[in-house]
Amino acid sequence: MHKPKVVLGVSGGIAAYKACELLRRLTESGHDVRVVPTESALHFVGAATWSALSGHPVSTEVWADVHEVPHVRIGQGADLVIVAPATADILAKAAHGLADDLLTNTLLTARCPVVFAPAMHTEMWEHPATQENVATLRRRGALVVDPAVGRLTGVDTGKGRFPEPAELFEVVRRVLGRGGDAVDAAQDLAGRHVVVSAGGTREPLDPVRFLGNRSSGKQGYALARSAAARGARVTLVAANAALPDPAGVDVVPVGTAVQLREAVLKAAADADAVVMAAAVADFRPETYATGKIKKKDGEDPAPIALVRNPDILAEIAGDRPRVGQVVVGFAAETDDVLANGRAKLARKGCDLLVVNEVGERKTFGSEQNEAIVLGADGSETPVPYGPKEDLADTIWDLVVQRLA
Ligand SMILES: Cc1cc2nc3c(=O)[nH]c(=O)nc-3n(C[C@H](O)[C@H](O)[C@H](O)COP(=O)(O)O)c2cc1C
Repeated sequence: MHKPKVVLGVSGGIAAYKACELLRRLTESGHDVRVVPTESALHFVGAATWSALSGHPVSTEVWADVHEVPHVRIGQGADLVIVAPATADILAKAAHGLADDLLTNTLLTARCPVVFAPAMHTEMWEHPATQENVATLRRRGALVVDPAVGRLTGVDTGKGRFPEPAELFEVVRRVLGRGGDAVDAAQDLAGRHVVVSAGGTREPLDPVRFLGNRSSGKQGYALARSAAARGARVTLVAANAALPDPAGVDVVPVGTAVQLREAVLKAAADADAVVMAAAVADFRPETYATGKIKKKDGEDPAPIALVRNPDILAEIAGDRPRVGQVVVGFAAETDDVLANGRAKLARKGCDLLVVNEVGERKTFGSEQNEAIVLGADGSETPVPYGPKEDLADTIWDLVVQRLA
């Protein structure tokens, strides 16, 4: 079986040690990984570590094993190149086509998808020089994963943090999974902003209790990961999902339906597509008890009066915050799945409705899903039982068709 050939470029940032974890995940899942560090990277993690973990020799310059012409062959033979961490310096060199070491030569000879995972202090990331270099690389088809917000070197915090290696691994998997050769097709959401809602809202009754639902958020997170791997800027409005932040995705945590509405509407103002995968409560308790509701001896519990929550999907679909915006809804049904789905599509006015059957052991919390995607144009796209990321990719395929 063909082992996908991955080049892991490592440049001289403090997060170089985290690339060891990415390397381990890649090799353990059957990838043939060639590590190409820069000279600076070796100040952080030595060549012995890269060589032992990858099972390949390691060099930083073009003068080793010259008979094998490594400055050309490594890039030419790769199915994917990922530079992680990518320093401000390597982004600048790549944007300007410099070729003064093995990694920069490899970047010029690679014709496969190229991913950069920048990590640096916030000032370096926000500097116009870096931002222009990132824009240049993206324009040329590279996937530049936005750094996370959080703890940086020393006492500093801000944007510039290296994403979790497990999440970067997911980016690599998805980019490779969508066909190494079709570099442009793989980045078909580049330059787009998409909003995804995920998880399940919780409607508080008192400080310790809430009305909630069983949604884990996995389908919405799969949508966010797929969109980011296809080049989109992604805002993920996450309701009570206990899942790691996907790499490169802007996560906005919310609790209730009202909070979710506010966050989605704000993000949707300039979005090309909105996918409402969250399970939003239709009703919330009419009143909120500021102290814990106590049981009283001999008294029946008071009934819980409910009021309607806003219908966010219908609101966005009916009054698109942006012209040409594609709106996708989900219908989780337990009975009469297709008929209820068609009725909901007509009622809400969205472009696509993903209809799936849910139940105590179906869909919620599972890694798999099965669905039919109904189009307002009368189309029906069945997606067989499989990983939630397959359904996510089918949804984005249909969104991309409509954006075009
Ligand atoms: C302790 C230390 C940590 C550094 N961390 C980073 C970093 O996270 N990101 C970055 O862009 N540069 C960082 N630098 C600066 C780079 O190492 C420097 O720009 C170097 O020239 C990069 O070379 P390279 O891109 O060839 O690897 C750091 C430097 C030091 C001394």
